[in-house]
Amino acid sequence: MKNKIRWGLLSTASITDQFIPAIKGNKHSELAAIASRDIHKADEAARQWKIERTYGSYQALLDDPNIDIVYIPLPNHLHLEWTLKAARAGKHVLVEKPIALTVEEVDQMAAAAKENNVIIQEGFMYRFNPQTAKINTLMNEGVLGELRFMRSGFQHIHNRADDYRLTPEFGGGVLWDMGCYPVSFFQMITGSAPFRVSAYRQLGKTGIDRSFFATMHFIKGITSQLAISFDLPSFSNVELHGTEGIMFISSPFKQRGPTGIILKHSKGFQNFPFSTKDPFTAEVESMALAASGEAEVVVTLQDSRRTVSTIQMLHEAASNV
Ligand SMILES: NC(=O)c1ccc[n+]([C@@H]2O[C@H](COP(=O)([O-])OP(=O)(O)OC[C@H]3O[C@@H](n4cnc5c(N)ncnc54)[C@H](OP(=O)(O)O)[C@@H]3O)[C@@H](O)[C@H]2O)c1
Repeated sequence: MKNKIRWGLLSTASITDQFIPAIKGNKHSELAAIASRDIHKADEAARQWKIERTYGSYQALLDDPNIDIVYIPLPNHLHLEWTLKAARAGKHVLVEKPIALTVEEVDQMAAAAKENNVIIQEGFMYRFNPQTAKINTLMNEGVLGELRFMRSGFQHIHNRADDYRLTPEFGGGVLWDMGCYPVSFFQMITGSAPFRVSAYRQLGKTGIDRSFFATMHFIKGITSQLAISFDLPSFSNVELHGTEGIMFISSPFKQRGPTGIILKHSKGFQNFPFSTKDPFTAEVESMALAASGEAEVVVTLQDSRRTVSTIQMLHEAASNV
């Protein structure tokens, strides 16, 4: 790559504390600017992370001609607006999960990407990690025989009182926030969306779903179940059950705590340990290469559209219970 890819951050969101070290550590990337609705917050982040330029509005950063990629970690209801504005400013976009709240919004993003000749990619960082690559390799080798059943749990105690996740109009709720991971994962494994779902959700005082339980049926006789909660201690896993074996995956989404794959089949158990690394490193590397035309996009907008569509379907099913 001739020149480094210059990143701009739209906001001082909490997640930037984990994302910035990945940009700083990437040889193809440079962290050029950060914007906040409050210039003091941008200046503070710039001091902490040694970022060259700061802006007191998101639009001012988009107007900077010396930015190649914009990272958008805004509350979910703002993803559409700022992704469209960034694309129209000629910037590539890495926008946090969930990319959007309706399939129509994803379609608008796809049109903007095409019209402005930029990449728009959803920041599902687990898709870029070596553990996920190994899972896909094992599945492509057919180690489980015919896949029949998938199960995933993802939970943590959520107690940030002023968090946008508690506001329904901001795209809050546990399904949009955490459920998008297992939904995306199941669809990565099957290469398809469920054709039938049933779902149950428990709502909190602010009207968002705090726990969500669902069963999804895919073609080829594959069924999956998910259990997601803001009210249970930290935990995440996936199990894949096939006619010839079972795969147990610890920390499939955020590689913190115990990680790794255990495969159980006729010959016994096989372990594939994975170390806990900065989860965003591979995502930043991949996005920088894609922006410079040296790699394919990993999470396509078709993938994202399918995830958003299934989440809408699950909410619809749960609202009818
Ligand atoms: N991939 C992952 O592992 C991961 C982890 C956590 C979060 N996320 C995603 O990242 C995004 C941000 O999550 P977060 O927890 O980092 O959010 P957060 O800490 O609440 O930060 C969101 C930022 O958005 C800006 N903002 C603009 N309008 C706002 C409004 N009306 N209300 C609140 N904030 C507003 C604020 O920045 P300024 O004041 O600086 O403008 C705020 O700091 C979400 O889409 C989430 O799903 C991803």
